[in-house]
Amino acid sequence: MKIFNRRDFLKTSGVAAGGLMLSSGMLKAAQNKSGVTLNIAMVGIGAEGEVLLNSLLKLPNVNFVAVCDIWPVRKTYAFRRIFKELKQKAKMYEDYKELIANHAKDLDAVFIATPDFWHAPQTVDFLNAGVNVYCEKMMSNTLEGAKSMVRAARKNKKLLQIGHQRTSNPRYLYAREVLLRKNNICGKIMACNGQWNRAVTADLTWAKKQTIPDETLKKFGYSDMAQFRNWRWSKALGGGAISDLGAHQIDIFGWMLGAHPSRVMASGNRDYYKKPDGTPAHDWDDNVMCIFEFDKTFQGNKAQVFYQVLTTTSSGGGYFESFMGDKGTLKMSENPAITKLFRENNVPIEEWDKLAKNGVIGTGDADSANVKTADARESAALMSYGFPATVPGFDAEKPIHMYHIENFLGAVRGENKLSCDAEHAYEAEAAVFKAREAISKGPLEFSEDDFVVSD
Ligand SMILES: NC(=O)c1ccc[n+]([C@@H]2O[C@H](COP(=O)([O-])OP(=O)(O)OC[C@H]3O[C@@H](n4cnc5c(N)ncnc54)[C@H](O)[C@@H]3O)[C@@H](O)[C@H]2O)c1
Repeated sequence: MKIFNRRDFLKTSGVAAGGLMLSSGMLKAAQNKSGVTLNIAMVGIGAEGEVLLNSLLKLPNVNFVAVCDIWPVRKTYAFRRIFKELKQKAKMYEDYKELIANHAKDLDAVFIATPDFWHAPQTVDFLNAGVNVYCEKMMSNTLEGAKSMVRAARKNKKLLQIGHQRTSNPRYLYAREVLLRKNNICGKIMACNGQWNRAVTADLTWAKKQTIPDETLKKFGYSDMAQFRNWRWSKALGGGAISDLGAHQIDIFGWMLGAHPSRVMASGNRDYYKKPDGTPAHDWDDNVMCIFEFDKTFQGNKAQVFYQVLTTTSSGGGYFESFMGDKGTLKMSENPAITKLFRENNVPIEEWDKLAKNGVIGTGDADSANVKTADARESAALMSYGFPATVPGFDAEKPIHMYHIENFLGAVRGENKLSCDAEHAYEAEAAVFKAREAISKGPLEFSEDDFVVSD
């Protein structure tokens, strides 16, 4: 607990966009070798809480002191798994304030995976009680909430990691430091695009016997079970798809480009999910498309980033972030199968062959460049390459969230810096909030007259 000398290392734990180095120490930090057992608690064990739990159960030297969820079925699920797999008896709570009152002094860390509107109050209370926090993204459903989290971490000199797990993923670190910076593989990156396209989904439901009593729902800010299950789409509780999914990737654009965006324009619509009376079923947009302009990237030039998040179709190849330069394109994804590099035809094949021979990239797929196109001068197919067979620190068997959790636990043990502290995550938060604002304030309206030549 208070045995680590965190103060010195906290002074240097801020990771500004562009400030992260891929050192072997950073990759090794994920391995948790110190053997110090940490006392932890979990608050919110829904879909994402379960993902975190799956990793935590596999990590050594973790002692589950308590679990908290307002939904009894989820609380007991966590308790049972922890008991079955580790023989540890975590205390169960409905109200996180009781958990703090009874255990804060013994806790090294808490993992918070509740709906976004709970993040700020819970995180601030845990930090004020002296507990390091791993909180899921978005930081909050309000910018004020997110600011209060940054301030509480600063004031209490405690660690606050936000769940943008790509920033701890060795493949992403490799892409940023080794491919884009050290080897300048894309050349000048003038444009990026990214997307997260999801198929139509029905609202989430619940088994009747698992209905939470009205007074409990009200106590914790929910009007009814339907809103409790589908909080993402409610303005008071969540941020919609651009925040829920987009925040991860908008964070990655700023992080990879080593800069903050300078301006944003955006468009959104709520014309798909409808109530029986024909009005929109959700408070937030079903689909959002936006363009961020960067005035000065790490390469010193301007760049435009087009990003879309769609919840009405899964077409277009899933979720990825592409960095398009005059020498090549890096298409990144949490899914290794989607990740690819494309060599521009103006770069001699020998150059990339050499990189492949030296293990910087994988070998090229000659077939990918053999596609006949109508205009070979302008749109010839590009040869694609994979990542090298070994990326330092990457283990294909490991769940993708585990690196981020290990990074956090390593930081709590005083072994390494956080890869996504609150100051860094706030930068993505600000970009997402501004993009959403641009939907209502930004677009220039067309009139039908604009398209007609009058007499
Ligand atoms: N990093 C990622 O890749 C990722 C992926 C999915 C979700 N998330 C984030 O994780 C968080 C949770 O999302 P989810 O999909 O698991 O939602 P969810 O609705 O499935 O789970 C939320 C859980 O929190 C519980 N809860 C609600 N209010 C609570 C309170 N006041 N105290 C204690 N428990 C409470 C609910 O009962 C539920 O079990 C969100 O912030 C979301 O953005 C992150």
